[in-house]
Amino acid sequence: MKSSTGRWVSGIDFFNRETELRILESRVRDNNHVLLTGQRRMGKTSILRELGRRLEDEDWVFLFADVEGATCPEDVIAQIAQAAHPVRSISSRFASAMGRWFTDNIEEINTLEFGVKIRAGLDAGSWRRHGEQLLRNCAEYDKPVLLVIDELPIFLKRMLHNDGDAQRVDEFMSWLRGALQSLGDDSPVLVLSGSIGLGPLMRRLDLPDRINHLYSFRLGPWGRDISIECFQNLSNSYRLSVDEGVADAVYETLGVGIPHHVQSFFARLRDFAMMQERDRVTVEDVDEVYRNVLLGASGQNDLVHYETRLKEGLENESYPLAMEILAEAATQEVFTPAARQCLERLYSKVVDGTAGRIADALEILVHDGYLKSDNARYRFPSNLLKDWWSARFRDHHTPLEKRRFEGKSQERMQ
Ligand SMILES: Nc1ncnc2c1ncn2[C@@H]1O[C@H](COP(=O)(O)OP(=O)(O)OP(=O)(O)O)[C@@H](O)[C@H]1O
Ligand SMILES: [Mg+2]
Repeated sequence: MKSSTGRWVSGIDFFNRETELRILESRVRDNNHVLLTGQRRMGKTSILRELGRRLEDEDWVFLFADVEGATCPEDVIAQIAQAAHPVRSISSRFASAMGRWFTDNIEEINTLEFGVKIRAGLDAGSWRRHGEQLLRNCAEYDKPVLLVIDELPIFLKRMLHNDGDAQRVDEFMSWLRGALQSLGDDSPVLVLSGSIGLGPLMRRLDLPDRINHLYSFRLGPWGRDISIECFQNLSNSYRLSVDEGVADAVYETLGVGIPHHVQSFFARLRDFAMMQERDRVTVEDVDEVYRNVLLGASGQNDLVHYETRLKEGLENESYPLAMEILAEAATQEVFTPAARQCLERLYSKVVDGTAGRIADALEILVHDGYLKSDNARYRFPSNLLKDWWSARFRDHHTPLEKRRFEGKSQERMQ
């Protein structure tokens, strides 16, 4: 098993998730379209790639379209076509249905060129028709097709941002739903996923029924035993000797088994031992590496990635509210109902509909796994995320209730 701290993993580098894979596979085999949700870096892309890889071994066709860079439905259709390029019977039929737009010999161009050429033949007036054609070509193929569209919410958010209204989001999602339904049982099986939540976005736009044909499945963290086993597998693969209690301390320190965090911790501990010219990791190293490396400059890089995604998931006006909530929960350990009231009062003068925006921000923060709610009190389940945000805000976050107190005393003084 290779240590991986970046992109998705599959095959021998993919660890565990057998139960989740079984559930997903059985949903897919029964022709159910699926919405896979889960907190950032939980392994959503990896599990979908692994599911596709396994189904391919059993005579399925697996099409994976990452639409993170798409700005319009035409881009999405072109991405799906590009994914289908290696399946000649689908791609050549589709290309010939594109008519005069497609004159190249499909065998002579590579996958990327195919996508670019298809994209050139699509416009706002034709993407629906061609998209339907492409899905029909998948349905007519003699093997079942699994179609994964990853990072769909980022694409929808971008359209929303560019247009300023939800019309094209609505059109695209309604089209997708209708196009699949019209193919009945032969339809390719669709799985949608992304690193920001689709559910909260569609609810906010008042379009929840556009995704209610999807079976929602949430990918959770690894438990203690699995996290420890993964850590030990990695240590064995690299012949790194770890003292008893190290893997346990790693899990305890993290507080929750987010696969990427377990992998990052292992990679940093291994680097640390190598820098000390040791091939052994001690329990004391765990705390040192956590404080100085994971929470240090390199960890801050990961945090930037989280912040970017969070910004993409929220409306512009909700973003500062989400930051306040995270800062409060990180530095005070909890975001309380009283703090929520103070936040509402503080921002209601500058942000329209503050109460609703706070509710939206909280919904997304909970959906994306930053916070967990317990009786209207919100806390970070992950120590790493909490400590990251705390390090970022510690020096310039005044607790919300203290700010209210200052405001009152100022009022009284006047
Ligand atoms: N099953 C797994 N086995 C081993 N490592 C994993 C597994 N799943 C995830 N990881 C670790 O997490 C990292 C992120 O995985 P992946 O990109 O699949 O997550 P994601 O949920 O799609 O992330 P994002 O929210 O950024 O889209 C991988 O590089 C790997 O380090
Ligand atoms: Mg992903």
